[in-house]
Amino acid sequence: MATLLENPLRVGLRQERIPEPLILVIFGASGDLTQRKLVPSIYQLKRERRLPPEITVVGVARRDWSHDYFREQMRTGVEEFADGIGSEEIWEDFAQGLFYCSGDIDKLESYQKLKALLDELDGKRGTMGNRVFYLAVAPKFFPEAIRQLGDAQMLTDTVKNRIVIEKPFGRDLSSAQTLNRVVQQVCKESQVYRIDHYLGKETVQNLLVFRFANAIFEPLWNRQFVDHVQITVAETVGVEDRAGYYESSGALRDMVQNHLMQLFCLTAMEPPNSLDADSIRTEKVKVIQSTYLSDLNSLENCAVRGQYSAGWMKGKPVPGYREEEGVNPKSTTPTYVAMKFLVDNWRWQGVPFYLRTGKRLPKKISEISIQFREVPHMIFQSAAQQASPNVLTLRIQPNEGISLRFEAKMPGSELRSRSVEMDFSYGSSFGMATADAYNRLLLDCMLGDQTLFTRADEVEEAWRVVTPALTAWESPFDPTKIPQYEAGTWEPKEAELMINRDGRRWRRP
Ligand code: BG6
Repeated sequence: MATLLENPLRVGLRQERIPEPLILVIFGASGDLTQRKLVPSIYQLKRERRLPPEITVVGVARRDWSHDYFREQMRTGVEEFADGIGSEEIWEDFAQGLFYCSGDIDKLESYQKLKALLDELDGKRGTMGNRVFYLAVAPKFFPEAIRQLGDAQMLTDTVKNRIVIEKPFGRDLSSAQTLNRVVQQVCKESQVYRIDHYLGKETVQNLLVFRFANAIFEPLWNRQFVDHVQITVAETVGVEDRAGYYESSGALRDMVQNHLMQLFCLTAMEPPNSLDADSIRTEKVKVIQSTYLSDLNSLENCAVRGQYSAGWMKGKPVPGYREEEGVNPKSTTPTYVAMKFLVDNWRWQGVPFYLRTGKRLPKKISEISIQFREVPHMIFQSAAQQASPNVLTLRIQPNEGISLRFEAKMPGSELRSRSVEMDFSYGSSFGMATADAYNRLLLDCMLGDQTLFTRADEVEEAWRVVTPALTAWESPFDPTKIPQYEAGTWEPKEAELMINRDGRRWRRP
């Protein structure tokens, strides 16, 4: 029989294999992530017949819930956050495999109790000791949970036992290194799945296909043709009810070090030799190792943070970040970050990568835009003052797709040009909505495919790049000095200045 951790050898990005029977143990089972994402995704996979009938989920949290109450809570989650229950029969079958175990993350007895339950379930449900432990708890509990799992001998089987760790992995370089050491003391890297849900998005994986399955783009993908790259992840939401987490995290830790860094890597990396996990991850590490903030002597030229102040969203007034519930009125937590990276290698020498992300921006949009150089000599009159350079935009979400802007002749007797767009849309080309990122990532983890998960060295390198900004921003300073931007506007003026100094402008997607 094939082992659970059988490596998918060059099987391609889309696998249709079914995982071995297993128990998914979710720490933080009473939390939002479990109810909104994890269990709805597992159920969706079950409905799509991508899981074995023995699939079993054990929720672990402090609250004193019964198995039945946990099942009810999960049903509500599926009804609200997935496509609904569908057939009662499928739900009933699924619910029979849901169990709950109350326990404290720092108590050995809790792990002993859990272990006894898992052993019992192995016998009842035929899950053969295959276990995936998913840490959907606050990041400060990761080291404790990992140590306890190790002490309770629950990660000893390097083939059958795995662990999934949510982001952010560490708070900075040194805490990420410490956490990696804790992990390495109790298990092997092949058992570890550091999750970044951006890598589960179809459009993010499409970056690889777009770049490496087409012959026409790669020759242009370098310093000779590309002027600069802009990577934007803009959100309209504010901090919502997550002040407790967000106050100690902020946009740099919450978004840049992980999600934006992944978008950057896939855009800038060299072609991997194959699609196996380590070929891809090694190329990603190589490109991050060559990357740095462009001007460490004057941080304002390469890293700007900001915080939203009161403003208007969709015609309604919204409070500023410091007025949000649970936020310190003198908070210096950034809700916006813009950075300029340079990459020291043959392909990208001198080509800036501008990254930005923020909450309470005018539009929800994630995109990568490759801005090509201008033509060396323009002989036509353009409708605009001058011809716009070509821009290739990869829309990660929403309205997933790719568009290419180029100049075309305007109808009429004169030879005048105007910018037009050539557009590919996922929805109309494939006629289906893209699947939720967690479906893909959970399935990959159960199949033992680490391609879309971050490796220890990768996560540390990503911290290294942003460390100078983190250090400067966390030194004691007057809180009034954090740049502000009005909710519903694109950025603080400092971010605009940062890019304007280079003679460029932020896109207005
Ligand atoms: C999460 C962050 O990882 O990503 C959130 O913690 C953010 O703050 C979210 O809102 C954005 O994800 P998506 O998939 O909606 O772009």
